[in-house]
Amino acid sequence: MAWILIISSILLLWIFSLCILLLLPRFSFAKHLGSAFRKRNVLLVIAHPDDESMFFTPTINFLTSKGHNVQILCLSIGDADGKGNIRKKELFQACVALKVPMQQLKIVNHPDLQDGFGKVWNHSLLAKIIEEEITSCCVDMIITFDNYGVSGHCNHRDVHCGVCMLHDTLQRDIEVWELVSNNILRKYSGPVDIWWSLFWAMSHSNGTVQCLANEHSRRSFIAMAQHSSQWVWFRKLFVALSSYTYINTLRKVK
Ligand SMILES: *[C@@H]1O[C@H](CO)[C@@H](O)[C@H](O)[C@H]1NC(C)=O
Ligand SMILES: *[C@@H]1O[C@H](CO)[C@@H](O)[C@H](O)[C@H]1NC(C)=O
Ligand SMILES: [Zn+2]
Repeated sequence: MAWILIISSILLLWIFSLCILLLLPRFSFAKHLGSAFRKRNVLLVIAHPDDESMFFTPTINFLTSKGHNVQILCLSIGDADGKGNIRKKELFQACVALKVPMQQLKIVNHPDLQDGFGKVWNHSLLAKIIEEEITSCCVDMIITFDNYGVSGHCNHRDVHCGVCMLHDTLQRDIEVWELVSNNILRKYSGPVDIWWSLFWAMSHSNGTVQCLANEHSRRSFIAMAQHSSQWVWFRKLFVALSSYTYINTLRKVK
């Protein structure tokens, strides 16, 4: 009997949190990012095709719904299993699902930046590539992984380091925001994570932490399903349970 009670409470909490999430975008919590006065050119820097759909959909949906210009720079074709060319095409399809114009997606295939665990990516090379992109596209805000990179993948962490290296050397003022990596409990709590995220964002009254709720969680599934070569049962489960499908907490990099 007890377990029925536990499961139904979890289910209720899940559904209640999902409802809060759907209502949340109506209130302007994301003050700094959501500024209606200035349209931003935002560059999302990721390591592999599918990072955008697996981790960043709340951010992408938020930015596009507010009319900001979103560009995606993917630093590898994800060729760890030799499926690089397929995954490249899948990323273009995912961009369509995410309402990011295809010409605003750039995929880099550099011999020194190949997908894989244990493949170290040169931070100055990354900084150089990202700098070229922000100069040619007049980018004024970068969003990327934090120093743990959500899953701890070394390519994600190197991308973070490359962006930070660029941020430190850049003359022009450019805002950098990182996607905060959650502990395992929060990572798999789905929409329930909204309570922690909101509390955490609100405790930073200076606006350095922002909580972005996904207005279109279904779009995350649709986008991820475009990555057919990756869309196996455990990733379906991951997308359903992961808090990154429903909420992104972004922290401003100093
Ligand atoms: C890293 O990349 C930079 C810039 O492309 C290059 O000058 C440097 O030699 C590279 N370092 C290593 C260890 O490959
Ligand atoms: C913002 O507030 C947090 C804690 O509330 C603090 O750690 C951080 O240094 C502050 N940042 C700025 C830029 O004032
Ligand atoms: Zn990745």
